[in-house]
Amino acid sequence: MKEKIETLQKEALNKIDNVKDLKELNDIKVEYLGKKGPINELTTHMKELSPDEKRDFGMLLNGLKQSVTDAIDSKRTKFEEAELNEKLAKEKIDVTLPATKIPTGAPNILEKIIEDVEEVFMSMGYDVVDGPEVEEDKYNFEMLNIPKGHPARDAQDTFYIEDESILLRSQTSPVQVRTMLKAGGKTPVRMICPGKTYRRDADDATHSHQFMQIEGLLVDKDIRLSDLKGTFDVIAKKLFGEDCVTRFRPSYYQFTEPSVETDISCFACKGKGCSLCKNTGWITVSGAGMVHPNVLRGCGYDPKEWSGFAFGFGAERLAMLKYGINDIRTFYQTDLRESEIFDRKDV
Ligand code: DAH
Repeated sequence: MKEKIETLQKEALNKIDNVKDLKELNDIKVEYLGKKGPINELTTHMKELSPDEKRDFGMLLNGLKQSVTDAIDSKRTKFEEAELNEKLAKEKIDVTLPATKIPTGAPNILEKIIEDVEEVFMSMGYDVVDGPEVEEDKYNFEMLNIPKGHPARDAQDTFYIEDESILLRSQTSPVQVRTMLKAGGKTPVRMICPGKTYRRDADDATHSHQFMQIEGLLVDKDIRLSDLKGTFDVIAKKLFGEDCVTRFRPSYYQFTEPSVETDISCFACKGKGCSLCKNTGWITVSGAGMVHPNVLRGCGYDPKEWSGFAFGFGAERLAMLKYGINDIRTFYQTDLRESEIFDRKDV
């Protein structure tokens, strides 16, 4: 009997050892530990034994049962662990893999520079205003002290529409006139006007038939050239850094007297001289001056009582300087790679 039990145990443990999956293991469990299995079958012989034999046989049988149950349980745990490990391996995420790039937009660099300028001027009490791109000769030239036939008109090769009285504005300066007329003699007048302008320029790296200007105007009592200088200082420092210094050079515009070109110290070489500033240490960023008495008068402001300054920035030029762009056409070609480059710059 003892041998029979030992053989049965060996046979069962061997089978359990070689089992391939949980299903087979369950089959073996039923085969050996089930009601119709050999262990149960042996139990039925118990009643034929004497009490002493019964005890020994019972112990052996219990040992057999226990060892088969333990072997099955430990095998099951192994299968379950293997299954879990396989599942975990399959679901593993490699966090070091580069993520799929989601295309996103980038700020339009020209809009950005205009917003920066607007912000500084608004903080000084200026209004941001708009004017028509299709303009009358009267506002674009005549009321700015540039009468018909004046040679200064040649400098702004203008797109005329239908006849000579309607045109695509060649500058944002007409908005000065419109703003003063609208204000109807009230002061102070403080405005900036960013907007598109058009000239019959051949497109090259620094010229475009369409470009953006930012016009500015301030009219009040006792406004002097030094106020223009102070205002320009603030904007230069805000846009190009606190160590940026400014200077005025004499110039000529029909609608300002005196007229100046406004320069900032070269932020690339800090004024020492480099290719950006053509070794001068200075970069010109706008035209400006004191509003001409004829312009003030034409718009209803007595030049004996009121004075003002005006200026005109080229927005592309500001952006090109600030972001190191060397071709104005960059702004008008819809090449998304350009905006990606801008995105990486600190804008
Ligand atoms: N409108 C001028 C231009 O297009 C720029 C300019 C110069 C604007 C002087 C002004 C100014 O308001 O005062 O070249």
